[in-house]
Amino acid sequence: MDSIVVTGNGPLKGQIPIAGAKNACLTLMPATLLSEEPLTLTNAPRLSDIKTMSTLLQSLGAEVTQMQGGKVLALSSHNLNNHVADYDIVRKMRASILVLGPMLARDGHAVVSLPGGCAIGARPVDLHLKALEAMGADLDLREGYVHAKAPGGLRGGTFEFPIVSVGATENALMAATLAKGTTVLKNAAREPEIVDLAQCLRRMGAQIEGEGTSTITIQGVERLGGATHPVVPDRIELGTYMLAPAICGGEVECLGGRIELVEAFCERLDAAGVTVEETENGLKVSRRNARVRAVDVITEPFPGFPTDLQAQMMALMCTAEGTSVLEERIFENRFMHAPELMRMGARIDVQGGTATVTGVEHLKGAPVMATDLRASVSLILAGLAAGGETVVNRVYHLDRGYESVEEKLGNVGAKIERISDQ
Ligand code: EPZ
Repeated sequence: MDSIVVTGNGPLKGQIPIAGAKNACLTLMPATLLSEEPLTLTNAPRLSDIKTMSTLLQSLGAEVTQMQGGKVLALSSHNLNNHVADYDIVRKMRASILVLGPMLARDGHAVVSLPGGCAIGARPVDLHLKALEAMGADLDLREGYVHAKAPGGLRGGTFEFPIVSVGATENALMAATLAKGTTVLKNAAREPEIVDLAQCLRRMGAQIEGEGTSTITIQGVERLGGATHPVVPDRIELGTYMLAPAICGGEVECLGGRIELVEAFCERLDAAGVTVEETENGLKVSRRNARVRAVDVITEPFPGFPTDLQAQMMALMCTAEGTSVLEERIFENRFMHAPELMRMGARIDVQGGTATVTGVEHLKGAPVMATDLRASVSLILAGLAAGGETVVNRVYHLDRGYESVEEKLGNVGAKIERISDQ
Protein backbone atom coordinates (compact mmCIF):
# COMPACT_ATOMS: atom_id res chain seq x y z
CA MET A 1 0.00 0.00 0.00
CA ASP A 2 1.30 3.45 -0.92
CA SER A 3 2.07 6.18 1.58
CA ILE A 4 2.41 9.90 1.08
CA VAL A 5 5.18 11.82 2.86
CA VAL A 6 4.55 15.52 3.51
CA THR A 7 7.13 17.87 5.01
CA GLY A 8 6.08 21.32 6.24
CA ASN A 9 7.64 23.68 3.76
CA GLY A 10 6.16 27.14 4.31
CA PRO A 11 3.88 29.23 2.10
CA LEU A 12 2.47 27.95 -1.20
CA LYS A 13 2.31 29.85 -4.45
CA GLY A 14 0.79 29.04 -7.82
CA GLN A 15 -2.22 27.47 -9.51
CA ILE A 16 -4.08 24.20 -8.93
CA PRO A 17 -6.46 22.90 -11.64
CA ILE A 18 -9.76 21.59 -10.25
CA ALA A 19 -11.06 18.40 -11.88
CA GLY A 20 -14.63 17.33 -12.66
CA ALA A 21 -16.70 16.28 -9.64
CA LYS A 22 -16.35 12.66 -8.53
CA ASN A 23 -19.83 12.74 -7.01
CA ALA A 24 -21.34 14.16 -10.18
CA CYS A 25 -19.58 11.67 -12.44
CA LEU A 26 -20.67 8.72 -10.29
CA THR A 27 -24.32 9.56 -10.97
CA LEU A 28 -23.88 10.76 -14.56
CA MET A 29 -22.30 7.46 -15.61
CA PRO A 30 -25.26 5.23 -14.60
CA ALA A 31 -27.53 7.63 -16.53
CA THR A 32 -26.26 5.88 -19.66
CA LEU A 33 -28.45 2.92 -18.65
CA LEU A 34 -31.53 5.05 -19.35
CA SER A 35 -30.88 5.25 -23.08
CA GLU A 36 -29.71 3.10 -25.99
CA GLU A 37 -27.90 6.10 -27.46
CA PRO A 38 -24.31 7.07 -26.58
CA LEU A 39 -23.55 9.37 -23.66
CA THR A 40 -20.25 11.27 -23.66
CA LEU A 41 -18.98 12.87 -20.46
CA THR A 42 -16.22 15.48 -20.76
CA ASN A 43 -14.14 16.96 -17.91
CA ALA A 44 -14.36 13.59 -16.16
CA PRO A 45 -12.00 13.11 -13.18
CA ARG A 46 -9.33 10.40 -13.32
CA LEU A 47 -10.06 8.47 -10.12
CA SER A 48 -10.24 4.89 -8.95
CA ASP A 49 -13.95 5.30 -8.10
CA ILE A 50 -14.62 6.16 -11.75
CA LYS A 51 -12.81 3.00 -12.81
CA THR A 52 -14.96 1.02 -10.34
CA MET A 53 -18.16 2.48 -11.80
CA SER A 54 -16.88 1.71 -15.32
CA THR A 55 -16.27 -1.92 -14.31
CA LEU A 56 -19.76 -2.16 -12.83
CA LEU A 57 -21.43 -0.73 -15.94
CA GLN A 58 -19.38 -3.03 -18.17
CA SER A 59 -20.49 -6.02 -16.05
CA LEU A 60 -24.06 -5.09 -16.99
CA GLY A 61 -23.21 -5.04 -20.70
CA ALA A 62 -22.61 -1.32 -21.13
CA GLU A 63 -19.57 -0.07 -23.01
CA VAL A 64 -17.32 2.48 -21.32
CA THR A 65 -14.36 3.88 -23.23
CA GLN A 66 -11.87 6.23 -21.59
CA MET A 67 -10.38 8.83 -23.94
CA GLN A 68 -7.87 11.64 -23.46
CA GLY A 69 -6.35 9.80 -20.51
CA GLY A 70 -9.75 9.37 -18.85
CA LYS A 71 -10.86 13.01 -19.12
CA VAL A 72 -13.52 11.95 -21.64
CA LEU A 73 -15.78 8.94 -21.05
CA ALA A 74 -17.76 7.48 -23.97
CA LEU A 75 -20.60 5.34 -22.61
CA SER A 76 -23.18 3.25 -24.38
CA SER A 77 -25.63 0.70 -23.06
CA HIS A 78 -27.16 -0.32 -26.36
CA ASN A 79 -27.70 -3.84 -25.16
CA LEU A 80 -27.75 -4.64 -21.45
CA ASN A 81 -27.18 -8.37 -21.13
CA ASN A 82 -26.99 -8.59 -17.35
CA HIS A 83 -29.26 -6.98 -14.77
CA VAL A 84 -27.41 -8.10 -11.67
CA ALA A 85 -25.04 -5.67 -9.92
CA ASP A 86 -22.76 -8.00 -8.06
CA TYR A 87 -21.89 -7.68 -4.33
CA ASP A 88 -18.19 -7.95 -5.17
CA ILE A 89 -18.25 -4.63 -7.01
CA VAL A 90 -21.00 -2.89 -5.03
CA ARG A 91 -19.27 -3.48 -1.67
CA LYS A 92 -16.22 -1.56 -2.95
CA MET A 93 -18.22 1.56 -3.74
CA ARG A 94 -21.60 2.54 -2.32
CA ALA A 95 -22.44 4.72 -5.30
CA SER A 96 -22.99 1.46 -7.20
CA ILE A 97 -26.56 1.54 -5.87
CA LEU A 98 -27.16 4.30 -8.44
CA VAL A 99 -27.54 1.69 -11.21
CA LEU A 100 -30.78 0.48 -9.57
CA GLY A 101 -33.13 3.30 -10.59
CA PRO A 102 -31.96 3.61 -14.21
CA MET A 103 -31.88 -0.16 -14.84
CA LEU A 104 -35.35 -0.63 -13.36
CA ALA A 105 -36.77 2.32 -15.30
CA ARG A 106 -35.37 1.11 -18.60
CA ASP A 107 -35.98 -2.64 -18.50
CA GLY A 108 -38.47 -3.14 -15.67
CA HIS A 109 -36.19 -5.34 -13.59
CA ALA A 110 -32.90 -5.13 -11.69
CA VAL A 111 -31.04 -7.05 -9.00
CA VAL A 112 -28.57 -4.92 -7.04
CA SER A 113 -26.54 -5.88 -4.01
CA LEU A 114 -27.12 -3.79 -0.91
CA PRO A 115 -23.94 -1.74 -0.49
CA GLY A 116 -23.43 -2.34 3.22
CA GLY A 117 -21.99 0.31 5.51
CA CYS A 118 -18.68 2.09 5.38
CA ALA A 119 -16.25 3.72 7.78
CA ILE A 120 -18.27 6.91 8.23
CA GLY A 121 -21.59 5.28 9.01
CA ALA A 122 -24.26 2.63 8.40
CA ARG A 123 -25.45 4.52 5.32
CA PRO A 124 -28.67 2.61 4.66
CA VAL A 125 -30.42 2.84 1.28
CA ASP A 126 -34.00 2.65 2.59
CA LEU A 127 -34.87 6.03 1.06
CA HIS A 128 -33.69 4.92 -2.39
CA LEU A 129 -36.06 1.95 -2.11
CA LYS A 130 -39.02 3.89 -0.70
CA ALA A 131 -38.76 6.48 -3.49
CA LEU A 132 -38.78 3.75 -6.17
CA GLU A 133 -41.75 2.05 -4.46
CA ALA A 134 -43.60 5.37 -4.69
CA MET A 135 -43.18 4.98 -8.47
CA GLY A 136 -44.71 1.51 -8.43
CA ALA A 137 -41.57 -0.59 -8.04
CA ASP A 138 -42.01 -4.00 -6.43
CA LEU A 139 -38.93 -4.58 -4.23
CA ASP A 140 -37.91 -7.78 -2.48
CA LEU A 141 -34.80 -7.94 -0.25
CA ARG A 142 -33.21 -11.42 -0.37
CA GLU A 143 -29.71 -12.60 0.63
CA GLY A 144 -28.28 -9.09 0.65
CA TYR A 145 -29.71 -8.16 -2.75
CA VAL A 146 -32.56 -5.89 -3.81
CA HIS A 147 -34.74 -7.72 -6.37
CA ALA A 148 -36.63 -4.91 -8.11
CA LYS A 149 -39.47 -5.32 -10.59
CA ALA A 150 -41.71 -2.95 -12.50
CA PRO A 151 -43.23 -5.24 -15.16
CA GLY A 152 -45.50 -2.60 -16.69
CA GLY A 153 -42.83 0.07 -16.23
CA LEU A 154 -42.62 2.67 -13.43
CA ARG A 155 -45.44 5.17 -13.02
CA GLY A 156 -45.19 8.77 -11.83
CA GLY A 157 -45.70 9.28 -8.10
CA THR A 158 -45.12 11.80 -5.34
CA PHE A 159 -42.48 11.12 -2.67
CA GLU A 160 -41.39 13.32 0.21
CA PHE A 161 -37.92 12.43 1.57
CA PRO A 162 -38.04 12.36 5.41
CA ILE A 163 -34.40 13.46 5.40
CA VAL A 164 -32.37 14.94 2.56
CA SER A 165 -30.49 12.22 0.68
CA VAL A 166 -28.23 12.98 -2.29
CA GLY A 167 -28.08 9.42 -3.62
CA ALA A 168 -31.76 8.67 -3.11
CA THR A 169 -32.67 11.88 -4.92
CA GLU A 170 -30.38 10.88 -7.80
CA ASN A 171 -31.80 7.36 -8.05
CA ALA A 172 -35.37 8.63 -7.99
CA LEU A 173 -34.66 11.46 -10.44
CA MET A 174 -33.13 9.10 -13.00
CA ALA A 175 -35.92 6.53 -12.61
CA ALA A 176 -38.65 9.18 -12.95
CA THR A 177 -37.44 10.32 -16.37
CA LEU A 178 -38.91 7.15 -17.95
CA ALA A 179 -41.87 6.63 -15.60
CA LYS A 180 -45.36 6.96 -17.06
CA GLY A 181 -46.77 10.30 -15.87
CA THR A 182 -45.52 12.94 -13.48
CA THR A 183 -43.24 12.44 -10.46
CA VAL A 184 -42.82 15.02 -7.71
CA LEU A 185 -39.83 14.66 -5.35
CA LYS A 186 -40.21 16.74 -2.17
CA ASN A 187 -37.43 17.60 0.28
CA ALA A 188 -35.08 16.61 -2.54
CA ALA A 189 -31.34 17.20 -2.23
CA ARG A 190 -30.15 20.50 -3.74
CA GLU A 191 -26.46 19.69 -4.27
CA PRO A 192 -24.75 21.00 -7.45
CA GLU A 193 -24.26 17.36 -8.47
CA ILE A 194 -28.05 16.95 -8.60
CA VAL A 195 -28.33 20.07 -10.77
CA ASP A 196 -25.59 18.70 -13.03
CA LEU A 197 -27.42 15.36 -13.36
CA ALA A 198 -30.69 17.10 -14.22
CA GLN A 199 -28.95 19.19 -16.88
CA CYS A 200 -27.45 16.07 -18.43
CA LEU A 201 -30.77 14.21 -18.35
CA ARG A 202 -32.44 17.21 -19.99
CA ARG A 203 -29.84 17.08 -22.76
CA MET A 204 -30.89 13.44 -23.20
CA GLY A 205 -34.52 14.54 -23.62
CA ALA A 206 -35.84 14.33 -20.05
CA GLN A 207 -38.46 16.80 -18.85
CA ILE A 208 -37.37 18.09 -15.43
CA GLU A 209 -38.12 21.24 -13.42
CA GLY A 210 -36.94 22.51 -10.06
CA GLU A 211 -33.51 20.89 -9.73
CA GLY A 212 -31.50 22.80 -7.12
CA THR A 213 -34.65 23.46 -5.11
CA SER A 214 -36.33 21.13 -2.61
CA THR A 215 -39.06 20.13 -5.09
CA ILE A 216 -38.20 18.47 -8.39
CA THR A 217 -40.97 17.67 -10.90
CA ILE A 218 -40.33 15.16 -13.67
CA GLN A 219 -42.64 14.45 -16.62
CA GLY A 220 -41.83 10.91 -17.82
CA VAL A 221 -41.02 10.37 -21.51
CA GLU A 222 -41.09 7.27 -23.74
CA ARG A 223 -37.34 7.15 -24.30
CA LEU A 224 -34.19 9.18 -23.88
CA GLY A 225 -31.56 9.95 -26.46
CA GLY A 226 -27.82 10.43 -26.26
CA ALA A 227 -25.91 13.53 -25.13
CA THR A 228 -22.53 15.08 -24.54
CA HIS A 229 -22.20 16.68 -21.11
CA PRO A 230 -19.36 18.37 -19.20
CA VAL A 231 -18.99 17.21 -15.59
CA VAL A 232 -19.37 20.10 -13.12
CA PRO A 233 -16.14 21.10 -11.26
CA ASP A 234 -15.55 19.22 -8.00
CA ARG A 235 -16.54 21.57 -5.16
CA ILE A 236 -15.01 19.25 -2.55
CA GLU A 237 -11.64 19.07 -4.30
CA LEU A 238 -11.95 22.86 -4.71
CA GLY A 239 -12.61 23.44 -1.02
CA THR A 240 -9.81 21.07 -0.08
CA TYR A 241 -7.19 22.96 -2.11
CA MET A 242 -8.53 26.35 -0.96
CA LEU A 243 -7.54 25.24 2.54
CA ALA A 244 -3.90 24.66 1.55
CA PRO A 245 -2.85 28.36 1.51
CA ALA A 246 -5.17 28.96 4.46
CA ILE A 247 -3.27 26.45 6.58
CA CYS A 248 0.30 27.21 5.51
CA GLY A 249 0.24 30.69 4.00
CA GLY A 250 0.95 32.00 0.52
CA GLU A 251 -1.50 32.40 -2.33
CA VAL A 252 -3.07 29.71 -4.53
CA GLU A 253 -5.43 30.10 -7.48
CA CYS A 254 -7.80 27.17 -7.93
CA LEU A 255 -8.47 27.01 -11.68
CA GLY A 256 -12.05 26.22 -12.66
CA GLY A 257 -13.36 26.92 -9.17
CA ARG A 258 -16.71 28.67 -9.06
CA ILE A 259 -17.85 30.61 -5.98
CA GLU A 260 -21.44 29.46 -6.22
CA LEU A 261 -20.29 25.88 -5.58
CA VAL A 262 -18.75 26.75 -2.18
CA GLU A 263 -20.63 29.75 -0.77
CA ALA A 264 -21.27 28.40 2.76
CA PHE A 265 -17.67 27.17 2.93
CA CYS A 266 -16.33 30.58 1.80
CA GLU A 267 -18.43 32.33 4.44
CA ARG A 268 -16.65 30.28 7.14
CA LEU A 269 -13.24 30.91 5.54
CA ASP A 270 -13.91 34.65 5.52
CA ALA A 271 -14.90 34.54 9.20
CA ALA A 272 -11.62 32.72 9.89
CA GLY A 273 -9.61 35.45 8.15
CA VAL A 274 -9.11 33.86 4.73
CA THR A 275 -9.61 35.96 1.60
CA VAL A 276 -11.23 34.39 -1.48
CA GLU A 277 -11.04 36.43 -4.67
CA GLU A 278 -12.93 35.52 -7.85
CA THR A 279 -10.61 35.72 -10.87
CA GLU A 280 -11.41 35.08 -14.53
CA ASN A 281 -9.82 31.61 -14.17
CA GLY A 282 -11.17 30.53 -10.80
CA LEU A 283 -10.73 31.41 -7.11
CA LYS A 284 -7.58 32.94 -5.59
CA VAL A 285 -7.10 32.22 -1.87
CA SER A 286 -4.80 33.69 0.79
CA ARG A 287 -4.97 34.25 4.53
CA ARG A 288 -4.99 37.73 5.99
CA ASN A 289 -2.85 37.00 9.08
CA ALA A 290 -0.14 34.59 10.22
CA ARG A 291 -2.81 32.51 11.97
CA VAL A 292 -6.47 32.05 11.11
CA ARG A 293 -9.17 32.60 13.70
CA ALA A 294 -11.18 29.70 15.14
CA VAL A 295 -14.76 29.53 13.81
CA ASP A 296 -17.64 27.14 14.47
CA VAL A 297 -18.93 24.79 11.74
CA ILE A 298 -22.19 22.84 11.35
CA THR A 299 -22.43 20.41 8.43
CA GLU A 300 -25.74 20.46 6.57
CA PRO A 301 -27.21 19.48 3.20
CA PHE A 302 -26.46 21.97 0.41
CA PRO A 303 -26.48 24.96 0.48
CA GLY A 304 -25.12 24.47 4.02
CA PHE A 305 -21.52 23.65 4.93
CA PRO A 306 -20.67 20.33 3.17
CA THR A 307 -19.94 17.30 5.36
CA ASP A 308 -17.27 16.33 2.81
CA LEU A 309 -15.23 19.39 3.84
CA GLN A 310 -15.60 18.90 7.60
CA ALA A 311 -12.41 16.87 8.07
CA GLN A 312 -10.38 19.32 5.99
CA MET A 313 -11.78 22.32 7.90
CA MET A 314 -10.92 20.59 11.18
CA ALA A 315 -7.28 20.42 10.06
CA LEU A 316 -7.31 24.20 9.59
CA MET A 317 -9.00 24.76 12.94
CA CYS A 318 -6.26 22.70 14.64
CA THR A 319 -3.87 25.56 13.87
CA ALA A 320 -6.32 28.43 14.47
CA GLU A 321 -6.25 31.03 17.23
CA GLY A 322 -9.01 30.12 19.69
CA THR A 323 -11.50 27.27 20.05
CA SER A 324 -13.72 25.91 17.28
CA VAL A 325 -16.78 23.68 17.63
CA LEU A 326 -17.48 21.43 14.64
CA GLU A 327 -20.88 19.73 14.57
CA GLU A 328 -21.25 16.79 12.13
CA ARG A 329 -24.97 16.47 11.42
CA ILE A 330 -24.94 14.23 8.32
CA PHE A 331 -23.00 11.10 9.29
CA GLU A 332 -22.76 9.35 12.64
CA ASN A 333 -19.05 8.54 12.63
CA ARG A 334 -17.14 11.13 10.69
CA PHE A 335 -14.44 12.20 13.15
CA MET A 336 -11.95 9.38 12.57
CA HIS A 337 -9.39 11.93 11.44
CA ALA A 338 -9.45 13.47 14.95
CA PRO A 339 -7.26 10.85 16.73
CA GLU A 340 -4.81 10.99 13.82
CA LEU A 341 -4.63 14.80 13.99
CA MET A 342 -4.07 14.47 17.75
CA ARG A 343 -0.98 12.37 16.99
CA MET A 344 0.32 15.54 15.34
CA GLY A 345 -0.27 17.59 18.50
CA ALA A 346 -3.80 18.79 17.79
CA ARG A 347 -6.11 19.34 20.77
CA ILE A 348 -9.52 17.89 19.96
CA ASP A 349 -12.31 16.73 22.25
CA VAL A 350 -14.90 14.56 20.50
CA GLN A 351 -18.29 14.12 22.17
CA GLY A 352 -20.72 12.25 19.90
CA GLY A 353 -21.35 14.39 16.83
CA THR A 354 -19.45 17.38 18.14
CA ALA A 355 -15.71 18.01 18.06
CA THR A 356 -14.21 20.91 20.05
CA VAL A 357 -10.83 21.99 18.68
CA THR A 358 -8.45 24.22 20.62
CA GLY A 359 -5.99 25.62 18.10
CA VAL A 360 -2.25 25.20 18.61
CA GLU A 361 0.47 27.34 17.07
CA HIS A 362 2.42 24.42 15.61
CA LEU A 363 1.50 20.86 14.67
CA LYS A 364 4.28 18.28 14.59
CA GLY A 365 4.77 15.80 11.77
CA ALA A 366 4.03 12.13 12.63
CA PRO A 367 3.11 8.81 10.97
CA VAL A 368 -0.71 8.79 10.62
CA MET A 369 -3.37 6.49 9.16
CA ALA A 370 -5.94 7.42 6.52
CA THR A 371 -9.34 5.95 7.41
CA ASP A 372 -11.62 7.34 4.72
CA LEU A 373 -11.38 9.55 1.68
CA ARG A 374 -11.80 12.99 3.22
CA ALA A 375 -10.00 12.14 6.47
CA SER A 376 -6.91 11.18 4.44
CA VAL A 377 -6.68 14.55 2.73
CA SER A 378 -7.21 16.40 6.02
CA LEU A 379 -4.04 14.68 7.29
CA ILE A 380 -2.14 15.89 4.24
CA LEU A 381 -3.34 19.45 4.84
CA ALA A 382 -2.19 19.20 8.47
CA GLY A 383 1.14 17.82 7.25
CA LEU A 384 1.62 20.87 5.01
CA ALA A 385 1.56 23.09 8.09
CA ALA A 386 3.32 20.76 10.54
CA GLY A 387 6.99 20.97 11.45
CA GLY A 388 8.87 17.94 10.21
CA GLU A 389 7.66 14.91 8.30
CA THR A 390 4.16 13.42 8.20
CA VAL A 391 3.69 9.97 6.68
CA VAL A 392 0.09 9.27 5.66
CA ASN A 393 -0.48 5.53 5.27
CA ARG A 394 -3.23 3.70 3.31
CA VAL A 395 -3.52 6.42 0.66
CA TYR A 396 -5.68 4.16 -1.51
CA HIS A 397 -8.50 6.00 0.25
CA LEU A 398 -7.11 9.23 -1.19
CA ASP A 399 -6.87 7.95 -4.75
CA ARG A 400 -10.63 7.34 -4.75
CA GLY A 401 -11.35 11.04 -4.76
CA TYR A 402 -8.25 13.09 -5.57
CA GLU A 403 -6.37 13.10 -8.87
CA SER A 404 -2.57 13.13 -8.36
CA VAL A 405 -2.68 15.11 -5.11
CA GLU A 406 1.10 15.08 -4.73
CA GLU A 407 1.54 16.62 -8.19
CA LYS A 408 -1.09 19.33 -7.67
CA LEU A 409 0.31 20.35 -4.27
CA GLY A 410 3.94 19.85 -5.35
CA ASN A 411 3.38 22.28 -8.22
CA VAL A 412 2.57 25.07 -5.74
CA GLY A 413 5.63 24.44 -3.57
CA ALA A 414 4.58 21.72 -1.13
CA LYS A 415 7.22 19.15 -0.16
CA ILE A 416 5.22 15.98 -0.83
CA GLU A 417 6.00 12.60 -2.36
CA ARG A 418 4.37 9.20 -2.78
CA ILE A 419 6.20 6.12 -1.50
CA SER A 420 5.10 2.90 -3.16
CA ASP A 421 5.35 -0.26 -1.09
CA GLN A 422 6.07 -2.58 -3.97
C1 EPZ B 1 -23.34 11.43 -1.14
O1 EPZ B 1 -23.46 10.22 -0.41
C2 EPZ B 1 -21.86 11.59 -1.42
N1 EPZ B 1 -21.39 10.47 -2.23
C3 EPZ B 1 -21.08 11.66 -0.11
O2 EPZ B 1 -19.71 11.91 -0.43
C4 EPZ B 1 -21.60 12.84 0.70
O3 EPZ B 1 -20.94 12.87 1.95
C5 EPZ B 1 -23.12 12.68 0.92
O4 EPZ B 1 -23.78 12.55 -0.35
C6 EPZ B 1 -23.72 13.86 1.67
O5 EPZ B 1 -23.49 15.03 0.95
C7 EPZ B 1 -21.66 10.45 -3.55
O6 EPZ B 1 -22.30 11.33 -4.09
C8 EPZ B 1 -21.14 9.28 -4.33
P1 EPZ B 1 -26.87 10.83 1.53
P2 EPZ B 1 -24.94 9.60 -0.13
O7 EPZ B 1 -27.81 9.82 0.97
O8 EPZ B 1 -25.81 9.87 -1.28
C9 EPZ B 1 -28.75 8.87 5.41
C10 EPZ B 1 -17.41 11.55 -0.42
O9 EPZ B 1 -16.57 11.70 0.47
N2 EPZ B 1 -29.48 8.02 4.47
O10 EPZ B 1 -27.10 12.27 1.22
O11 EPZ B 1 -24.75 8.19 0.30
C11 EPZ B 1 -27.26 8.59 5.40
O12 EPZ B 1 -26.96 7.54 6.29
C12 EPZ B 1 -18.74 10.91 -0.08
O13 EPZ B 1 -17.27 11.89 -1.62
C13 EPZ B 1 -30.47 7.18 4.95
O14 EPZ B 1 -30.74 7.13 6.16
O15 EPZ B 1 -25.39 10.47 1.11
C14 EPZ B 1 -26.68 9.91 5.86
O16 EPZ B 1 -26.72 9.97 7.27
C15 EPZ B 1 -18.82 10.48 1.37
N3 EPZ B 1 -31.17 6.39 4.08
C16 EPZ B 1 -27.65 10.95 5.29
O17 EPZ B 1 -28.85 10.22 4.96
C17 EPZ B 1 -30.90 6.41 2.73
O18 EPZ B 1 -31.58 5.69 1.97
C18 EPZ B 1 -27.16 11.63 4.02
O19 EPZ B 1 -26.78 10.61 3.11
C19 EPZ B 1 -29.89 7.27 2.25
C20 EPZ B 1 -29.20 8.07 3.13
